[in-house]
Amino acid sequence: MTRIRTQVGIVGAGPAGLTLAHLLHLQGIESVILERHSREYVETRVRAGVLEQGTVDILCNSGVGERLKREGLQHGGVELRFDGKGHRIDFQELVGKSITVYAQQEVVKDLIAARLCYGAPLRFEAEAIRVEGYDADPKIQYQHGGESHEISCDFIAGCDGFHGICRPTFPEGQLQIHERHYPFSWLGILARVPPASHELIYSYHERGFALLSMRSPEVSRLYLQCASDEDLNNWPDDRIWEELRTRMATRDGFKLKDGPIFQKGITPMRAFVASPMQIGNLFLLGDAAHIVPPTGAKGLNLAVADVRVLTRGLVEFYKHKKHQALAQFTERCLRRVWKCQRFSGWMTSMLHRFPQEDSFSHQIHLAELDYVTGSRAASTTLAENYVGLPFDTPGLF
Ligand code: FAD
Ligand code: DHB
Repeated sequence: MTRIRTQVGIVGAGPAGLTLAHLLHLQGIESVILERHSREYVETRVRAGVLEQGTVDILCNSGVGERLKREGLQHGGVELRFDGKGHRIDFQELVGKSITVYAQQEVVKDLIAARLCYGAPLRFEAEAIRVEGYDADPKIQYQHGGESHEISCDFIAGCDGFHGICRPTFPEGQLQIHERHYPFSWLGILARVPPASHELIYSYHERGFALLSMRSPEVSRLYLQCASDEDLNNWPDDRIWEELRTRMATRDGFKLKDGPIFQKGITPMRAFVASPMQIGNLFLLGDAAHIVPPTGAKGLNLAVADVRVLTRGLVEFYKHKKHQALAQFTERCLRRVWKCQRFSGWMTSMLHRFPQEDSFSHQIHLAELDYVTGSRAASTTLAENYVGLPFDTPGLF
């Protein structure tokens, strides 16, 4: 078994692990990242697409935003569509901020390129199998190239997503789980066709929710609410386009052009929060600690917000020998997490059809959407949450 030592051992090279390692590097704090998949796998995994202004600022201010600034699509608003009509929520006018559409795997590629460029350790196909000693002497055991290895470190950052190994390490009874399952999923596609709108469209329809997003001026990203146990085989391309056209239709003849679909997947909907997000010197970040339903586009942004809090805590610890910010990690992260759960849950219930909804519920959905798009106060509430709530403590980037 080979043994190495570092300051922070990071499990997972998703947005949380890679951003953390990058920000720590800029502060002169060493880390090693372990990722169980290959570089190609993580660089092509299709997931999120919407970055809050605060996420963009952190990436740009830390020197990994060059391509993001060039290729990211900056949007000053979104459309809510219902009852055959679209209504724009103007973020710029209401709250003076915008969002940027830039795929998660592009963020991941930029962070990997930066890390490899400055030669810091990032091991692909290295699977952490055990983390231990979080009270006094943290260690991560992992498998790489058919052999066992061990990292000994001051801190472990569990950035290993919802199905990772770090959260289950918490002793029985020391973790409180808050959870909600939704009775539907999202069927998502990527298609080689120019987006039918230059901004996102969230559509509520009697047949269910639909979302039009994009990845570039040539590639559309679209989602459809479907049953939670939906089988992708029941959704040939023609059926997907027909359903999208029905749910996106407007009274003035909106046209959704179809094109070749080159990626399809089903995403279950759940809300999940684990508390506390730390025990001893082990910290959980991003999806390892919380999942939000995707309707508010918050998951990746929350992962980066956790990273911001932990980076500050670790810098205070290493540079000023202070433990206070590390001790407050859970409390600081969860304040934002719960506000994002609230917002994502609200967007989800406003825009989706739940089983057994009757005509009364349908009218309530329409009334709520009419109120949100018609009232400046309600539109502002949506806008300030969607672009990202301000951070309540100053950051380093
Ligand atoms: P992950 O990205 O899951 O990364 C965890 C990493 O850890 C993985 O690479 C995994 O392979 C690795 N790992 C796990 N176990 C081990 C182990 N034992 N050893 C080594 N490595 C391990 N969020 C948004 O903000 N905006 C959106 O628009 C949005 N849309 C979404 C759409 C879809 C269809 C989906 C599925 C999600 C969406 N999200 C969105 C959520 C977002 O993708 C996640 O919140 C984000 O990936 C969380 O990042 P993370 O780094 O915490 O976890
Ligand atoms: C995308 C995903 C979301 O969850 C969302 O709310 C908006 C856009 C996307 O993948 O583009």
